[in-house]
Amino acid sequence: MNNEQNRYTSKLYEPATSLTASMIADKKNKVKQDQLYYPRLHLAPPFGLLNDPNGLAYFNGYYYIFYQYHPNQVDHGLKHWRMFKTKNFTTYDDFGITLAPHNEDDNFGVYSGGAIPFNDELLLFYTANHRDLQDTKVRKQTQYLVSLNKEDTIKERIQIIPYNDNYTDHFRDPYPIILNGIEYILIGGQRHDKSGCIVAYECSHRFRTIVKVKELKLPQQLNSSYMIECPCLFQQDEQFALIFSPQGLTTEVVTQKNIFDVMYVMGTSLDELANKPLQQLDYGFDFYAPQVFNDGQRSILIGWLGQAMTIYPYDEIYEWSQMLTLPREIKIQDNQIYQLPLPEVLVCRKAQRDITTFQEITSRVMDFEFHATHFEMKIGNDLNYIQIALHDDTFTFDRSHMDKQVNIEYGCERVVQLKPCNHEFRIIVDASAIEIFIDAGRYVLTSRFFIENMQYIKVSGDLVGNMYDMNEITVKECF
Ligand code: FRU
Repeated sequence: MNNEQNRYTSKLYEPATSLTASMIADKKNKVKQDQLYYPRLHLAPPFGLLNDPNGLAYFNGYYYIFYQYHPNQVDHGLKHWRMFKTKNFTTYDDFGITLAPHNEDDNFGVYSGGAIPFNDELLLFYTANHRDLQDTKVRKQTQYLVSLNKEDTIKERIQIIPYNDNYTDHFRDPYPIILNGIEYILIGGQRHDKSGCIVAYECSHRFRTIVKVKELKLPQQLNSSYMIECPCLFQQDEQFALIFSPQGLTTEVVTQKNIFDVMYVMGTSLDELANKPLQQLDYGFDFYAPQVFNDGQRSILIGWLGQAMTIYPYDEIYEWSQMLTLPREIKIQDNQIYQLPLPEVLVCRKAQRDITTFQEITSRVMDFEFHATHFEMKIGNDLNYIQIALHDDTFTFDRSHMDKQVNIEYGCERVVQLKPCNHEFRIIVDASAIEIFIDAGRYVLTSRFFIENMQYIKVSGDLVGNMYDMNEITVKECF
């Protein structure tokens, strides 16, 4: 058996049901021992590995959040959807694994996809990831629809898009959207020439019937990608932004590249995107596969606060890996996307403090809000720290002095050139995650960081504002 074959027949692909109650208790115990890095404000797995957010929707008075979940190990393996519901983004009900592999089509995982409420049903879309057990190199990805009723019971689970051999076996992440009254399912794919693409399936009958299939014409720079994952789209008045996660972009396209990055184009018609500017959604180190949904009032984005092909320090010790970003309100302004944490997150704020030149850290969860034309902020101790700085409208986030480094081949510093003004900052630090929002969310940097001894915050410059310690979110098991 070769290595590839080994991987697919290894423990990574054992069903979640192979975990006994005592194994689960052990894993939960390990996670509890992590007093340093497990987030208090962000949704993270109770144990095991999380990746993409899936099936985001507002339905029947609740926000629905699912994520890609591999409970058995902190590495990518057999994927399931784990389901959460919340009314306020601070208290969550956890319904556990809601979609697990159930037939030959999804025998190697229930992969990512989106959701859309439709009258009394919540429609979930996912990619059924199939591998031939005799020859695990043979893979087929087909697309499924699941209908949940208001009691969260699965009423229907059917294949709606069969294997499409116009593309390779990388063809996944169905995202439903109604645009100008037309139902579409967007799918990320790879052409036979190994370039990335997005395919739009026009549908009818509540997404049950496929009417037409077309490949979107996208900006040329995307031809340097070998696969486009997780397309999604949000609309604001006449405009929309198509967001996607291309793999393999060159540094000519993304100068400060991560393993994978997230890009977007704005438009008014799916047929006129080829000449639109390709823009970067986030300038940090750890942000991927975001999804957007609308709750009737606002568009909300949640992303995977992580990177593919990355085992973070401590993942294997505490047996949990990765987290989701905070929920963000997302808007289009001046042909760009702006993102800010939802106001609901403010509820977690407790004691307010001025930001002073030296501040001892009493809690690893902090929310900063300030203005500055130039400043430096160091969080950590004399030897190990992260540093945030603004000079001459150039913003820098430097994680080269952490105790443990991550993906250093992709650099340890991110630099963003801002438009001149008195800059506005919102920075949320949560144990081992940092989300930085600049100038009303025009620039966002999302990253993990690893500092054991977070002793103090040192600040210099003309920074004026406040900081807050934060209460944690609560997650209640409901199964
Ligand atoms: C993106 C992705 C998706 C896929 C899922 C599998 O991170 O690779 O394309 O559906 O993760 O977990």
